Amino acid sequence: MRAEPSERLALFLRANDEEEAGRRYPGLLRALVSGGKSRPGASEAAREMAGQVLTVPAERSGHLVVLLGLLAECGEPELRRNIRAGLDHYLKLLGTVRENTPLGAALVYLLAHFPEDAASILPVARSGFLDQDDLSRLERCLAVFTPETPAIGRSWPSPARWRLSDAERDHERRWLTTLTRDAVVAFWEKDTRTLLAYMGAKAAAAISTRQVESEAPDEILPVRAPQATGRTSALFDKYAPLFRCPACGGRLVRRGTAITCRDCAAGYLTDEGYLDLSGTAPGAGDQIAGNSPLYLSRYEPLLRPAFLRVNGTNWSGAVSIADEDAYLIDHVRPAAGPLLDLGAGTGRWTKVLASHLGGERIIAFDLAAAMVRRLGEVVPDSLVMRGAAGNLPFADGTLGAVNCWNTIQSIETPYQTIHEIGRCLGRGGTFTMLTYRHSPDPLYRYFQQRHESCLGVTSFDPEEMREALSKAGMTVMDQYTPGSFLIITAVRR
Ligand SMILES: C[S@@+](CC[C@H](N)C(=O)[O-])C[C@H]1O[C@@H](n2cnc3c(N)ncnc32)[C@H](O)[C@@H]1O
Repeated sequence: MRAEPSERLALFLRANDEEEAGRRYPGLLRALVSGGKSRPGASEAAREMAGQVLTVPAERSGHLVVLLGLLAECGEPELRRNIRAGLDHYLKLLGTVRENTPLGAALVYLLAHFPEDAASILPVARSGFLDQDDLSRLERCLAVFTPETPAIGRSWPSPARWRLSDAERDHERRWLTTLTRDAVVAFWEKDTRTLLAYMGAKAAAAISTRQVESEAPDEILPVRAPQATGRTSALFDKYAPLFRCPACGGRLVRRGTAITCRDCAAGYLTDEGYLDLSGTAPGAGDQIAGNSPLYLSRYEPLLRPAFLRVNGTNWSGAVSIADEDAYLIDHVRPAAGPLLDLGAGTGRWTKVLASHLGGERIIAFDLAAAMVRRLGEVVPDSLVMRGAAGNLPFADGTLGAVNCWNTIQSIETPYQTIHEIGRCLGRGGTFTMLTYRHSPDPLYRYFQQRHESCLGVTSFDPEEMREALSKAGMTVMDQYTPGSFLIITAVRR
């Protein structure tokens, strides 16, 4: 039987040292929250926790403060009132924090839940130790929504990192006029939830490692790629026997820039930019680029590293860009046929593959029109294609290798995609994948999950993933799981 929150809290508070408190913490978390909802007795326990934050050692206090933030998010009025009753304590504690510490990260996360107290919180926060990322997140979460000039879709991972050019501001103004007021409000609220999840994950990681890591933007390592020689039509002809109609599986033929299915007569498009075998409108699948060209230029240096930090628990940078490059070069081993880079995005990692295997060997594949347009510039030697991962337009066993790097978590049908990869991959060819596993730390997992639901992505149980790969005819040769990454190389049997 589950112990009451108050019993678990007493055990946690009575722990002889911080190691013991750390071991008792998951039990306290489980007693307080389940499935994103507070459990009976949580409200009383929260009142006591709010009363204790000043009396326990800083490390234990950080644990309590994160739990209070997490409970505040559950939203029940009495629980929230009990947590808010400790506001003076939290501010006093914030005033004592002199540097970037786990307790500071926890306090920022907790205080971000009380916009009604912005006037008391912000002067203390602004006079203290907070760095620009933490402070701007706190300010944004406490801000009142202003319909005239809402900054939406550009506060994650930190509003301080978003400085717009005049052209970007113009674009944004035009974009806002296309949205209804309800859509703008929904965007604003989702931004707040995403920031809270990010701050919670940062605090949870800091508490578990006992340090706060810098959020400096990543330096994007340059990759040399061959000069442009290819053309879409010529590359289509080179690989023509590989393609199949996504509607009926029939063979495709090209006349000029028109591509037609010999069996069902469905028509597809090609030009010198990219081949479109998606069978969908150009806007479909634009998750990252979305309506905003603002994201494309910020994806690699800002958004992607932030995503890896939260979903991969990569706060200390255990997986660097150089590590990713090295992994690909060490593990991608194509059989006969081209390498499909599935979900190639803005192409930085496609370019690594192109420089390793030669651009003409690569098919850069994505569903988002904005991404494939960009890919045409980044890997001009490669065939760039628009298509859907869950219904790959390739004949069975025709691909030499498949790479799916930081992508499968964004695809709506990940296991169907694994099945498709197995179907298209030739015997002996490798499938390399970087994605995420559920964090084994229950507190961190809570925030990872919140973050995932805000961004519309998922993480995986490694066992389930191995089973799916096996069912799709692939055998895992290498599995690497630093933080909560799931990096796999499998080979087609
Ligand atoms: C997070 S980005 C990854 C980009 C790059 N591989 C990297 O390592 O950063 C995921 C990409 O998958 C694409 N994507 C999402 N769903 C897709 C689908 N069903 N079919 C093909 N591409 C898809 C998105 O458009 C996006 O460019």
